[in-house]
Amino acid sequence: MFKRLIEDIDAIRARDPAARSRLEVILAYPGLHAVRFHRLANWFWRHKLYLMGRWTSHWGRWFTGIEIHPGATIGRRLFIDHGMGIVIGETAEIGNDVTMYHGVTLGGTSPSENSDAQRNKKRHPTLQDGVIVGSGAQVLGPITVGADARVGANAVVTKDVPPGCTAIGIPARLVACKDPETQKAFMAYGTPGDLPDPVQRALDTMRQQVSALAARVEELEGELAKRDTTGRDTAERGRRTQDA
Ligand SMILES: CC(C)(COP(=O)(O)OP(=O)(O)OC[C@H]1O[C@@H](n2cnc3c(N)ncnc32)[C@H](O)[C@@H]1OP(=O)(O)O)[C@@H](O)C(=O)NCCC(=O)NCCS
Repeated sequence: MFKRLIEDIDAIRARDPAARSRLEVILAYPGLHAVRFHRLANWFWRHKLYLMGRWTSHWGRWFTGIEIHPGATIGRRLFIDHGMGIVIGETAEIGNDVTMYHGVTLGGTSPSENSDAQRNKKRHPTLQDGVIVGSGAQVLGPITVGADARVGANAVVTKDVPPGCTAIGIPARLVACKDPETQKAFMAYGTPGDLPDPVQRALDTMRQQVSALAARVEELEGELAKRDTTGRDTAERGRRTQDA
């Protein structure tokens, strides 16, 4: 248990540039506290102590502002940054090394009927390993967000997101899909940390513009040469007609 706690703390330190020490993480990261509350609530839930599970989860919510249903399945090293306003539904499944920011909902799409059949149905999303969910995103329904995919801040996702893809907007649309292997390294806030040097970027843009201009000049020279040849041919034909 202690090993798992250290693992969670180190995962937070590795993923949050603002985390300076293990002690700071223990004292000031509600995401860490919420996951500890959930582990206990989930233990009660799995042992059919449903009310105890709900009550523990309620206290977790009261302390952290993060509401995780005790029935939710959560993998290792989940990092919830800031946390306030997060809701994770009963049948949600979260893989390992998932990161989510405040205001995220892993919810159902329509209110479930109060029947056992409805209750036992999967109603909430599955986030596979390494997924990053931006702040305020709503991921709704029994859909799957594939491994290492990213969900943009404030997106509303109601359809599967393939592994390694980025979904943004309302309703969410895919803007990029990368080889999951190249996207393995964690990026804080889901954005690449190794942003290119601005001078290098400006030089690259200038180089592209020069190449585009060179191509256009070549094209125009070709057109001029064609026109010259056509003009000479017409003049030649005109002279021959006059001579005849
Ligand atoms: C979605 C996200 C992961 C994409 O990051 P990225 O790969 O660096 O992508 P870019 O910033 O190059 O953006 C690509 C395009 O998507 C748009 N875009 C990015 N994030 C968006 C979002 N959340 N909603 C709508 N459009 C978004 C950009 O404007 C850009 O559009 P353009 O090509 O027309 O200019 C990132 O923008 C994001 O939302 N991360 C979550 C951040 C977060 O929750 N922070 C809270 C920290 S407390």
